[in-house]
Amino acid sequence: MDFMKSETIINLARSFAGESQARTRYDMYAIKAKEEGYAYLAYVISQLAANEYAHAKVFFDHINSHAPQIVNNLFIDAGYPYKIRGTMENMQFAAEGEHEEATVIYPKFGQIAEQEGLKEIAVSYNLISKIEAQHNKIFTEIHDQLKNGTAYKKDQPVLWKCSVCGHEHLLTEPWQKCPVCGHPIGFTELQLQELH
Ligand SMILES: [Fe+2]
Ligand SMILES: [Fe+2]
Repeated sequence: MDFMKSETIINLARSFAGESQARTRYDMYAIKAKEEGYAYLAYVISQLAANEYAHAKVFFDHINSHAPQIVNNLFIDAGYPYKIRGTMENMQFAAEGEHEEATVIYPKFGQIAEQEGLKEIAVSYNLISKIEAQHNKIFTEIHDQLKNGTAYKKDQPVLWKCSVCGHEHLLTEPWQKCPVCGHPIGFTELQLQELH
């Protein structure tokens, strides 16, 4: 199999573009969350953006390590989303993209890499699709909590923690202002099952 003529090299280029854009979109979503007062959520989103950078690098490195010469230009035919609204909707848009990657795109690209004898690349697609499935769960959970108004309001007392000073207290709803450092509620850590 001539790697330069494979379908996989084009899929890697598509994946590099998709991951790079997801990273940038998530960074924009993090800025938006911060503007809306969700400082801790902005931190969570930027961690996920950093994951996407790492995935982009894996795909980029596969192109460079498999190509026998310097790759000047790869032309791709692919569509990418440009969806941005408020934080609650952004979380839904992100969850949809992750779902598509995890269940359709990367399993397919992995299968093609396998068929083309590019085992190491198939393994990357399979492992990264599992991470994207996890991202889907995190974004879905955040979206649902914002939509249902349960992000900072629980039926049972839970251990809230201020992400700035570390103050903790068992309550159904956290403080509006941290009693220790005075940072507002948005700095309180969200209770996300999928992060634990
Ligand atoms: Fe990713
Ligand atoms: Fe992701």
